[in-house]
Amino acid sequence: NTNAKGLSHGKIILMGEHAVVYGEPSIALPFPAVEVAVTIAPAEDATIIDCSYYSGIAAEMPEILQSLQTAINTALKSLNKENTPLAIQISSTIPPERGMGSSAAVSVAVTRAIYNYFNEELDYDRLLELVDVSEKVAHGNPSGLDAVTTSGDSPVFFRKGHPFVPFDLRLDGYLIVGDTGITGQTKAAVGSIAARLKTEKKVQTEKEIRLLGDLAEQAKQYLETNQPERLGTVMSQAHNLLAELGVSSDELNHLVGAAKQAGALGAKLTGGGRGGCMIALAASEQEAQTISQALQDAGAVKTWITYLNQAVTV
Ligand code: PMV
Repeated sequence: NTNAKGLSHGKIILMGEHAVVYGEPSIALPFPAVEVAVTIAPAEDATIIDCSYYSGIAAEMPEILQSLQTAINTALKSLNKENTPLAIQISSTIPPERGMGSSAAVSVAVTRAIYNYFNEELDYDRLLELVDVSEKVAHGNPSGLDAVTTSGDSPVFFRKGHPFVPFDLRLDGYLIVGDTGITGQTKAAVGSIAARLKTEKKVQTEKEIRLLGDLAEQAKQYLETNQPERLGTVMSQAHNLLAELGVSSDELNHLVGAAKQAGALGAKLTGGGRGGCMIALAASEQEAQTISQALQDAGAVKTWITYLNQAVTV
């Protein structure tokens, strides 16, 4: 297939970030409002990459793009096609390093496009296995959550060491995502909680982590039974706990406050924190628009709105 395509999309962690590191449950959603499209065509003598953040010969890619290089090599190697020169064109609307799963999404789309190019079947477990190799390069110790949610269309309930549990989203509500425009600092934030567990705040920290897990359990129930007000409440409670744990930032707190002031049912940071994105819940599309505007007025560099009922969302 000389003009092969591969697609994927962003992800949002709805509840349970950070606590998931300590065995608590989390909920993540596919976020198709932002997406990656990869096109592959034959190349003359070397593999060429063309994307918004790099353009040139793949073998000379800077270190920062190692995970992309790894994704390409891993997929080619799995098909015994390492020496086939390809022209790989990547376009992505997922802002990088904002907790939206951009690295996993790029790896998913590239892997799909490569398999498409060679007309090879790619089953789902194989895709996850291949993407895991480049995600290890990008993040060190990936849970696999990003690969699942950027490639699939089901929300997942996830507990470390357990299989992903897809579930039905039946919430009549809108999620607004606001980007602070500041690069998230997942690694530093995860490290700061680990450090806090070694101080006199250990017991309090452990309690906060457990509470975050309880809130994620409750959120799943509210998502399945269409209780937007209750979901909003637990989202805001989770934000307060995450802020207590030290993984929020002034900008995130400011946007969360602005969303609530504009009528959100609840709001919280999403993903690693210390930057990146926040999310807010609205009961109607009109309220979502009002909140989205309020977030932009409060400094969000970009906002997105998504309907949460899978029965209707594509
Ligand atoms: O910032 P993201 O989308 O990579 O999310 C990080 C989620 C954490 O729970 C903070 C870390 C983790 O490994 O689960």
